[in-house]
Amino acid sequence: MTILVTGAAGFVGNQTVKRLAAAGKPVRALVRNPGKASLRLKAVVDAVEIVTGDVTRLPSLPPAMRDVSAVIHTVAISMEKGGQSYEAVNFQGTVNVLTAAAAAGVPRFINISQNGARSDLPYRFLASKGRAQEAVAASALQWTALRPSAIFGAQDEFFNTFARLLKVSPLIFPLVGGGRAEFQPVAIEDVVEAIMRCLDDDSTVGEALALGGPEVLSLGEIERRVIDAMGSWRLLLPVPVGLLRPPVRLMQALLPGSPVSTSLLDLLAVPNTVPDNALTQRFGMQPLAFKGENIAYLRDNTLSDTLAKFFGGATIN
Ligand SMILES: NC(=O)c1ccc[n+]([C@@H]2O[C@H](COP(=O)([O-])OP(=O)(O)OC[C@H]3O[C@@H](n4cnc5c(N)ncnc54)[C@H](OP(=O)(O)O)[C@@H]3O)[C@@H](O)[C@H]2O)c1
Repeated sequence: MTILVTGAAGFVGNQTVKRLAAAGKPVRALVRNPGKASLRLKAVVDAVEIVTGDVTRLPSLPPAMRDVSAVIHTVAISMEKGGQSYEAVNFQGTVNVLTAAAAAGVPRFINISQNGARSDLPYRFLASKGRAQEAVAASALQWTALRPSAIFGAQDEFFNTFARLLKVSPLIFPLVGGGRAEFQPVAIEDVVEAIMRCLDDDSTVGEALALGGPEVLSLGEIERRVIDAMGSWRLLLPVPVGLLRPPVRLMQALLPGSPVSTSLLDLLAVPNTVPDNALTQRFGMQPLAFKGENIAYLRDNTLSDTLAKFFGGATIN
């Protein structure tokens, strides 16, 4: 039986597909952009079946569900653009994938949720992810939810965005919100390892497992580590989140590939730490730290790539 990965051209999705293929599991990749998928999945293209579908369109999903034993659902958007909304993609999209999976008799469902997601929060992104997880938990499928803190790795958006912004900010860099927000960055390799373990471990059915790295880091410390990893130096200037809203709103309006949005700024108000870390407490793993060689990939950000990304929209790495 086949394992279906939704959002398979995305950061978590393509790394999961590659790991499943390397483990010799039959894997189907649901993507909405076959061009991006063929670049991201080039290394395993012969071992993977790629199907197109849009989670906001339920009729596009049944072909992907044929003979599937487990769905790994990674689709979500963190910024609303191109007519896509949190409600339509993160919530209703998850409901649609659940509906199609149930109709096809798929037994197992692994939902990539988000640390801090909760339906009653005033922050629309986290609320949409929280409502999605409630739909998963209310389904009759054998579900497991994984709730990672911010994920780092060569294709991440969060930490690479700091690296890109550094490229266009000579000398001074904003210490966002005084740098006090807390995170527990977790490596993509560890998130994928947790997915693999859940697939093989029925005792995780019905559980929501939080995933974090080995350290709680303030945003200020994260910024310093990004700057160090890039071999750079900047004077960090504390800037209240409220003062950043107008320039961020302007960037959103003017740049096709704006790296930040006001709704992402909101997330800094929500602690993103993982007191009950399933990687260590449940799986006995030693997660990778956000430092040294593990974040050397940040150096690959060049000024020309950064400008292409901000002014031209998406680039694929
Ligand atoms: N990255 C993190 O730090 C982090 C932390 C905690 C939790 N998570 C969760 O992990 C999951 C994966 O995140 P990620 O970082 O891998 O995001 P990502 O790189 O943006 O991947 C998401 C994928 O979903 C696809 N997608 C978007 N709308 C779609 C639609 N309507 N129909 C079908 N596919 C659609 C995107 O397609 P395109 O490729 O065409 O854009 C993309 O490939 C998300 O659920 C996220 O909430 C991520």
